[in-house]
Amino acid sequence: MCGIVGYIGNKSAQGVLVSGLKRLEYRGYDSAGIATLGPRGAATVLRTKGKVQELVDLVTTHEKSDMIGIGHTRWATHGAPSKRNAHPHVAGNIHLVHNGIIENYQDLKVMLARHDYDFRSDTDTEVLAALIDYVARDADSLIDAVRSACEMVVGAYGIAVLDTRSPDEIVVARKGSPLVLGVGNGEVFIASDASALLGYTKQVIYLQDEELAICRTSGVELSDMASSTLEPTVETLEMDLEAVQKKGYDHFLLKEIHDQPDTVEATLRGRINPTVHTARLGGINMTAEELRDVRHIMIVGCGTAYYAGMLAKYYIEQLLGDVMVSVEVASELRYRSFAVQEGTVALIVSQSGETADTLACLMELKRRGVRTLGVVNAVGSTIAREVDGGVYVHVGAEISVASTKAFTSQVVAMILFALTAADARGMSPERRSELIDELELLPSEIEKVLAAHEKEVKAVAKNYMQYDHALYVGRDTLMPVALEGALKLKEVSYIHAEGYPAGELKHGPISLIDDRFFEVFYLLDNWLYEKSQSNLIEMNARGAHAIVVTDTARKVEAETVLRVSTKLDLLRPLVFNIISQLLAYYLAVQRDTDVDQPRNLAKSVTVE
Ligand code: G6P
Repeated sequence: MCGIVGYIGNKSAQGVLVSGLKRLEYRGYDSAGIATLGPRGAATVLRTKGKVQELVDLVTTHEKSDMIGIGHTRWATHGAPSKRNAHPHVAGNIHLVHNGIIENYQDLKVMLARHDYDFRSDTDTEVLAALIDYVARDADSLIDAVRSACEMVVGAYGIAVLDTRSPDEIVVARKGSPLVLGVGNGEVFIASDASALLGYTKQVIYLQDEELAICRTSGVELSDMASSTLEPTVETLEMDLEAVQKKGYDHFLLKEIHDQPDTVEATLRGRINPTVHTARLGGINMTAEELRDVRHIMIVGCGTAYYAGMLAKYYIEQLLGDVMVSVEVASELRYRSFAVQEGTVALIVSQSGETADTLACLMELKRRGVRTLGVVNAVGSTIAREVDGGVYVHVGAEISVASTKAFTSQVVAMILFALTAADARGMSPERRSELIDELELLPSEIEKVLAAHEKEVKAVAKNYMQYDHALYVGRDTLMPVALEGALKLKEVSYIHAEGYPAGELKHGPISLIDDRFFEVFYLLDNWLYEKSQSNLIEMNARGAHAIVVTDTARKVEAETVLRVSTKLDLLRPLVFNIISQLLAYYLAVQRDTDVDQPRNLAKSVTVE
């Protein structure tokens, strides 16, 4: 969602800001802007509805040598995407960029209008700018004004503030919306996402909730809401520049699909012992006794993370027969009056570690005393910091809005957790050994499937690009694969797609089948083969245009058959899912969509 950048130092601020905003483009946005200050506080504000590239063009015609500034990519919440609503917002001497939502902005607006503030935008952010300007009238410093304004605000924010009267400092503050400060030599970089800092510095300070900082060329002064000075913890960023580059691929989505042999390897590294068939997770902070006491595993996530939970549920149930597993969509769970029983462990699944609904569930579960474990990718993210323990999936930066490599590794990480619990519960090694062996094989099997099927899937995509609707179906472990496949397709190609358990076909979706639809049917040659086969026959009888993805050598009646051969057994669904990812990608390319940044979507959904 929205992105923040800021810079103070000895470089051209405009250059640093637009290159930082380019890095944040992947998060999804609809407008962008920057504000810089000259040595005497003269402000230059450039804003545009549209892409950061338009901002780059504006910078060439309005070039300034200013060395301090702030910038923003906006994903509209209050007010339509427009230049008028784009950040930075200006009120009096204050220039402000803001991520999050100010819930009481209407009341504040009424109050500020009484003090002669006019509002030019529909945003809550402009109200916050005016509030800071208003309280600055009686404040001793910019940071005092920001602190007082933050006390009056209800909601969530990550902000960076410039004051034309103090052109040698940027004040930042955070509550519920991430901010990270990059410390260089005589310069400070500000970003809502560490990837914007790559190439500039690896020394970073993650701001915590209710912390503020003054950024000057001399360094960072950190404080809290009570004005006490805090000692900043400087950490070294693990990410490297390569992770945010396309490495010769046309799109990040395709690169990230191809990253998977390596990223699964990274998720597994140091975590399995193939000799004794055990898994070991360093960060879950649970004793063997606590793992033995687990009665219920509650998996919480949104979007692809939720579907990863759905698939992981099958494996956890197979391994830990006596544990109940429930999978919850975070936006629903957070408002339900659900009960929690003794022995519940919640797995909080999130690539970004910042998704607002998932975070809200985490806080509610913690409030109720439930043990929480993160299955998170972004190191140092809010969810990763708030959970009692967890498993980092270690897939590196995922830039494409549609999630691929995170999904596979989230499932793997949850299987590792189940294996760890199975060991602690004294389950026989035989039960664990098959899965451990398959996990070891998974990276090379994904590699083989990519090599064997990419061209074929590309050709299939050409044949099916004219359809506007798709139905994805599968049974058992392939049911979540069908749901995730349909999600991937609609996200990136804008083809309307629905995912269903194959057994539900007769309860409604079969009525959809006609010449405007194609169907993706996942078929495993296992104990459910005959049942699945009869679902396929029913669909064919109604004129389906089916693409069957299967491992069987038997004869299959369908318009298109994609035969996937793999040494895997239990983990076949994960390689079938790679086929879904490729199909979604190549259909999107055929339909010429904005593959990496699909319309209306955001990578990290930090508001409800
Ligand atoms: C957004 C993204 C999805 C992602 C979901 C959950 O909708 O576009 O790709 O699956 O958020 O994000 P998280 O970061 O919590 O995994």
